[in-house]
Amino acid sequence: MTLLEKLRCLFTFGQGVALPLPEISSDSTPLTLFTQWFNDANKSGILLPEAMSVSSCSSDGQPSSRMVLLKNFDEQGFVFFTNYGSRKSNELVENNKVALLFHWNVLQRQIRIEGTVEKVTPQESAEYFHSRDRGSQVGAWASKQSQKLTHDNELKDRMTHFNDKYAKGEVPHPEFWGGWRIKPTYIEFWQGRASRLHDRVIFEKKDEAWQNFKIHP
Ligand SMILES: Cc1cc2nc3c(=O)[nH]c(=O)nc-3n(C[C@H](O)[C@H](O)[C@H](O)COP(=O)(O)O)c2cc1C
Repeated sequence: MTLLEKLRCLFTFGQGVALPLPEISSDSTPLTLFTQWFNDANKSGILLPEAMSVSSCSSDGQPSSRMVLLKNFDEQGFVFFTNYGSRKSNELVENNKVALLFHWNVLQRQIRIEGTVEKVTPQESAEYFHSRDRGSQVGAWASKQSQKLTHDNELKDRMTHFNDKYAKGEVPHPEFWGGWRIKPTYIEFWQGRASRLHDRVIFEKKDEAWQNFKIHP
């Protein structure tokens, strides 16, 4: 973290407690508020403000969570990229219900998102894949994400193999690697306030329209 980033963090710390939620009307949409909070997080100096937890659930009901990076969001949903053969992807195929969580500590804010997932189009995945640095592209080929290593050097050996294989020209986009789009049906904005009288605003999608209400902290 650079000195400037540290100073920005210090400057921002606790600001959320002093700031109430913006006015929310019955026709407010969660995307507007999410965009505003995401921009605040980007400006705050927090490292990786786009980091979020994604929780999936196995077919026998065992939930699991891990961090990923939000790469895109709009009216269609929230997108992250991963290996389609990973544990999370297998679980999302079996059970398309998913939960996301953002926590921006210096802003004293969290956002909880629940909904269902769908794969992004292969074109969208390929476009993002090719925007990544070459090392990450080859790394995607080398990693059998979530699978057991057969020996300690397996990953290194596979990296060498794919580096040689794709030494010339463009690294092709692997079909087993791509994006998931979370289509939200529930979004909660949580703003820390003094005396634990936190603000909680819920947006719920009913019949394709968003309704909002506040709940006790
Ligand atoms: C800050 C952070 C960001 C990460 N971003 C991603 C990501 O965007 N995509 C991904 O596949 N893994 C990402 N990872 C690794 C995952 O947390 C996880 O280890 C990996 O996806 C395998 O998860 P699974 O075995 O549950 O499928 C990230 C980890 C951290 C700590």
